[in-house]
Amino acid sequence: MGPTIKLSSGYEMPQVGFGLWKVDNATCADTVYNAVKVGYRLFDGACDYGNEKECGEGVARAIKDGLVKREDLFITSKLWPTFEDADKVELACRRSLADWGLEYFDLYLIHFPGALKYVDPSVRYPPGWQYDGENGGVVRSNTPMHETWRAMEALVGAGLARSIGVSNFQAQLIYDMLRYAKIPPAALQIEHHPYLVQQELLNLAKSEGIAVTAYSSFGPASFLEFGFKHAKELVPLMKDDLITSLASKYGKKPSQILLRWATQRGLAVIPKTNRVEVMPENLDVTGFDLEQADIDAITAKDAGIRFNHPASYFDTNKMWIFG
Ligand SMILES: NC(=O)c1ccc[n+]([C@@H]2O[C@H](COP(=O)([O-])OP(=O)(O)OC[C@H]3O[C@@H](n4cnc5c(N)ncnc54)[C@H](OP(=O)(O)O)[C@@H]3O)[C@@H](O)[C@H]2O)c1
Repeated sequence: MGPTIKLSSGYEMPQVGFGLWKVDNATCADTVYNAVKVGYRLFDGACDYGNEKECGEGVARAIKDGLVKREDLFITSKLWPTFEDADKVELACRRSLADWGLEYFDLYLIHFPGALKYVDPSVRYPPGWQYDGENGGVVRSNTPMHETWRAMEALVGAGLARSIGVSNFQAQLIYDMLRYAKIPPAALQIEHHPYLVQQELLNLAKSEGIAVTAYSSFGPASFLEFGFKHAKELVPLMKDDLITSLASKYGKKPSQILLRWATQRGLAVIPKTNRVEVMPENLDVTGFDLEQADIDAITAKDAGIRFNHPASYFDTNKMWIFG
């Protein structure tokens, strides 16, 4: 196993993992199996990705073939906002576990803050943002975060999750959580790339002992398929002058420079690819060092540009999570 990050829960989390958002259902089991074969040990899944069954098939086959044991793997899943009512948290976690074919998650995250009205899995699963499906609106639930977190803590007590954490949370809510949490969040997963550094949030996490995982490390690349205007208009990070010149300087791929910039600063990364041939280079991002001046130059590209706004995916005037 490559380098790990020690979580406040006491468990070790691999610093480089494999992202599962938009991994095609048809090829997902093979993709996961191949990623295990290449050496990935952390898999970052979620109910919302709609592929947990296929992910589980890939893992089961890898274990059956003797590539790994369950305890060699670190599997993450995430609680969708429609399951944030306290009495729905365990149900959602158990559904994800059943889909994966697992008895516990290594890490279970609250995917986004802001509880939404419960949608029964028999009605629609994964439920998505809109209460009535694609043409419907966003309907909030009244559940405050402290109730959801209490239920997350109960998952640890029940042995369903070893570590618990949050995703897409910002400073104010984290400070609030730290006042009532019996188990503080072990990890924070956030959008992080040179166009969106979020340095103050990183500082907060560091000072509170919360491990940070960067998602969408390649910036606009992941959002082109949604046709987002700013993703199309910005220079792709893989083609950025600074990143490509550093790639030449260090004899690495631009993608590896982007990932090393994060890992060398202590973050975990979870790049996603549907291409087996790209898997090894995305994993090989801790074995070389960038000079501090080069790290600082990449950090200085920060433009505060966020791509993963929930409200960008559909029309709504009821959702400003990052407001
Ligand atoms: N918590 C959250 O709300 C949240 C939100 C977004 C993502 N995530 C997690 O973070 C993971 C990673 O983020 P992401 O999937 O948004 O994006 P990403 O890993 O930054 O980028 C994926 C995109 O880059 C391409 N790519 C991958 N490796 C490449 C390489 N070496 N060279 C060139 N292109 C490459 C992929 O295309 P190909 O597949 O064709 O290679 C895909 O288009 C997700 O899969 C998910 O697990 C979490």
